[in-house]
Amino acid sequence: MCGIVGYIGHREAYPIIVKGLQRLEYRGYDSAGVALLSDGLQMHKCKGKVSDLTDLAKAKNVSGTLGIGHTRWATHGPPSDANSHPHMSQSGRLALIHNGIIENFESLKEALSGRGFTFQSDTDTEVLVNLIEDIMLSEKLPVEKAVRIALNQVIGAYAICVVDKERDGQIVVAKKGSPLVIGVGQGEYFIASDASPFLEYTKQAVYLEEDEMALIRLGESLSIRSIPSDKVVEPYVTQLQMDLESIEKGGYDHFMLKEIYEQPRSIHDTMRGRLLPDQGIIRLGGVSEYKDKFLQADRILIIACGTSWHAGLVGEYVFEELSRIPVEVEYASEFRYRNPVITEKDVVIAISQSGETADTLAAIRLAKSKGATIFGICNVVGSSIAREAHAGAYTHAGPEIGVASTKAFTAQVTVLNMMALYIGYKKGVISSSDFHRSLFELDAIPGKIEKMLQSNEQTLKIAEEYKDSKNCLYLGRGYNFPVALEGALKLKEISYIHAEGYPAAEMKHGPIALIDEDMPVVVIAPLSMHYEKVVSNVQEVKARNGKVIAIVNPADKEIRRSLPFPCSYWPITSQ
Ligand code: M6R
Repeated sequence: MCGIVGYIGHREAYPIIVKGLQRLEYRGYDSAGVALLSDGLQMHKCKGKVSDLTDLAKAKNVSGTLGIGHTRWATHGPPSDANSHPHMSQSGRLALIHNGIIENFESLKEALSGRGFTFQSDTDTEVLVNLIEDIMLSEKLPVEKAVRIALNQVIGAYAICVVDKERDGQIVVAKKGSPLVIGVGQGEYFIASDASPFLEYTKQAVYLEEDEMALIRLGESLSIRSIPSDKVVEPYVTQLQMDLESIEKGGYDHFMLKEIYEQPRSIHDTMRGRLLPDQGIIRLGGVSEYKDKFLQADRILIIACGTSWHAGLVGEYVFEELSRIPVEVEYASEFRYRNPVITEKDVVIAISQSGETADTLAAIRLAKSKGATIFGICNVVGSSIAREAHAGAYTHAGPEIGVASTKAFTAQVTVLNMMALYIGYKKGVISSSDFHRSLFELDAIPGKIEKMLQSNEQTLKIAEEYKDSKNCLYLGRGYNFPVALEGALKLKEISYIHAEGYPAAEMKHGPIALIDEDMPVVVIAPLSMHYEKVVSNVQEVKARNGKVIAIVNPADKEIRRSLPFPCSYWPITSQ
């Protein structure tokens, strides 16, 4: 992932772009750069964070009312000044920023080298900007036409902005597989990977669809075209609902921490107007509209990546238990590259926080082409997956800026629970009394999380104690197996400590050999039907001198009795 920002209008572009890049640093932060157009192209870029870029540009001329900027997460070539975006074409006429991957860049590079092009970086992006220049100069075309022809030769994903120094007052943008949104202001346009960089200036936005490009010209309306067909597309202007406060840190040191603490509210927002315990109702428009598809489905396929895939595993357990519909959970990245058996009686649930994950998008297109019904669970309103699905339910968790998903996971699990309950009840699998009781239980969850978040001292102690560990295991059974996987993913991503999640009972089939006094083992052990079994697993870990960190109910007795500190006692339920 990378973040892209562009501006064209009557204000100074540099401060808008830099602030926008800071908001997009969650998408990448190993190098940053900006190109401004005024009396030629000024380029400032370097390895490091956006703050390194601002240090570098301090004493330089950064004026101009048209510019593009980029914050990078390296894919082709290591983080370095040369690999930072924007990239210039060989003649210095074009500057381009890119989020995505050009898969056939090697063959394009070879062909361009044969035509005399040389390259300053290892990136696929520099190949693209030179391909555009080659077409533009050899065929004597305006840049927007050359961009279209070049993109038709490209295999891969991109969101790009292109500036031609000989065409002041315009930016060309295009999108396939990576997000790109255009903010429409009064006599000005903003371009970004998501709307956060321009929210304070305008709430009117046009989300480019797949395979679309736009010529953004000052003083003119947007001119959008299909890249494959060159047909003109009417821009669809959306009124954004987000507010600025929701994308700021709000006093927390990190967005991730803020988003963890937002969960009582975000889960409440996910259920708001949908879960009505007093009336005994779950109201999910998309699910009720497609109720018959679910009720008649041969199976449900859940497709997702990463954290969303973990939420999908929870969905598998809950759907099978409550609705007795067989469920399979697939990694989107694997699913799309095999030849899966899909029928018209399959319902596919695609889960994605961003709604833009390229593998998930490609996987649902494949399933759709075989006649399956696609149901999307996305957080970002109007995102590509949300638009591609036949129906769906937004998680309404608010913007998730932290790279490591937290509130998105719990919101996804909440939606899956509401769906499974609704369908299970309609199918007659769960009784009316169980259904009504479950509505109240779900409704109580935000309050319980609120309470749990108040007592984080134990967590801090444990973090201090284990911060230098090299490895860590997470164990859970039943619903808590996917939770263990998700916990391990968070630790890896955030602390760079190697961590694995396991179904607790699988320990004895091999991984137990890893346990010694240097191995912290997080055991998720609420008072549930698996409790006694998990207690036995804790004993196995203790017998090998592993350090157990148990997550238990306040009413827990057995694990507390057998474990000295470290042990965390969190009020998982009201017991
Ligand atoms: O936006 P998506 O939910 O489709 O993203 C999929 C994964 O990249 C994502 O869940 C990732 O694993 C998490 N951000 C990791 O914390």
